[in-house]
Amino acid sequence: MKIVVTGGAGFIGSAVIRHLLVETSHLVLNIDKLTYAGNLQSLVEVSDNPRYSFEQLDICGGERISQLMQSYQPDAIMHLAAESHVDRSIDGPSEFMQTNIIGTYTLLEAARKYWQSLGAHQQKDFRFHHISTDEVYGSLGDEGYFLEETAYQPNSPYSASKASSDHLVRAWHHTYGLPVVTSNCSNNYGPYQFPEKLIPLMILNALEGKPLPIYGKGDNIRDWLYVEDHARALCLILEKGQVGETYNVGGHNEKTNLEVVKTICTILDELWPEHPNSIQRYEELITYVTDRPGHDQRYAIDAGKIQRELGWVPEESFESGLRKTVKWYLGNKSWCAHIQDGSYQRERLGLTG
Ligand SMILES: NC(=O)c1ccc[n+]([C@@H]2O[C@H](COP(=O)([O-])OP(=O)(O)OC[C@H]3O[C@@H](n4cnc5c(N)ncnc54)[C@H](O)[C@@H]3O)[C@@H](O)[C@H]2O)c1
Repeated sequence: MKIVVTGGAGFIGSAVIRHLLVETSHLVLNIDKLTYAGNLQSLVEVSDNPRYSFEQLDICGGERISQLMQSYQPDAIMHLAAESHVDRSIDGPSEFMQTNIIGTYTLLEAARKYWQSLGAHQQKDFRFHHISTDEVYGSLGDEGYFLEETAYQPNSPYSASKASSDHLVRAWHHTYGLPVVTSNCSNNYGPYQFPEKLIPLMILNALEGKPLPIYGKGDNIRDWLYVEDHARALCLILEKGQVGETYNVGGHNEKTNLEVVKTICTILDELWPEHPNSIQRYEELITYVTDRPGHDQRYAIDAGKIQRELGWVPEESFESGLRKTVKWYLGNKSWCAHIQDGSYQRERLGLTG
């Protein structure tokens, strides 16, 4: 299969491309604008592979995307390109509307034109796989899980823009017959994640003896999934998912933010005992800061459908995945230094006032 991956220089997209090139015989064209979050260094392990090619391009650039579809003749598109950080969407929603909504619309139109030019057999086999988030469902109380049927109630500019893109994808299927499949996943963590996100931010701050900022009381709950488990799920959904269906992907790892940070500190105490600033334990760096405006309380995915219908279960537990992640950041400090090009210094983002 020839697969176009958008956003392949990002955190999850690069994991998908590494998986496709190492574990399958598919060909991959990576289309990525290379925003602050995109980094080709995340693909050095595979970028020499003759089955891989790259095009630096904005998904909002319709004509060039259409030309690429015609010349590359993909069998599938995996659409991951997005603005992805909630705090940034609070500070500046515009880019989120542009890339996540207009970009998805532009890509859908290019895909539709290309798909309509194919023969009947190829049309039937073609897939547009839209990668989305569980944040479209809003926030849970103490009980319950997000199911594929849960009503959308997005609360942040980021989740509202992703919800919009999900609706566009659905409409392009129902209106034009484009063969789409959508997946909504919980919070990912693992190697190559940009250090504005909770887990890498805490690891890197701890190693430098900087404060570990916990929003509010640290009691917000997220359901964590190791990124390579997500990449496997996405490839399975692409190959075996039913057209027009959506699949929730999650790891059954509900943790409060405070639990996550304390677990990172414990792993670091063991793996990197050279504590900075004469502290005895990394936990001493924890500081409580003003909560994120409109912070969703709890996310939890029911991943029963993908397990029953496609046979997917995560391989990593939270403990094993987090240990791998901490080890990866300890062994890849040059990647971390390179990705922080000076425009982002791990400062606090996303306060409205
Ligand atoms: N990170 C998570 O926990 C999580 C969970 C569920 C779903 N998702 C979804 O998965 C996808 C990937 O997330 P991620 O964490 O890898 O994001 P990321 O921010 O790490 O990477 C996004 C990539 O998209 C590229 N990009 C941004 N705007 C673009 C544009 N206009 N044109 C082309 N490329 C553009 C960036 O350069 C970057 O390489 C997103 O759609 C996100 O909503 C993420």
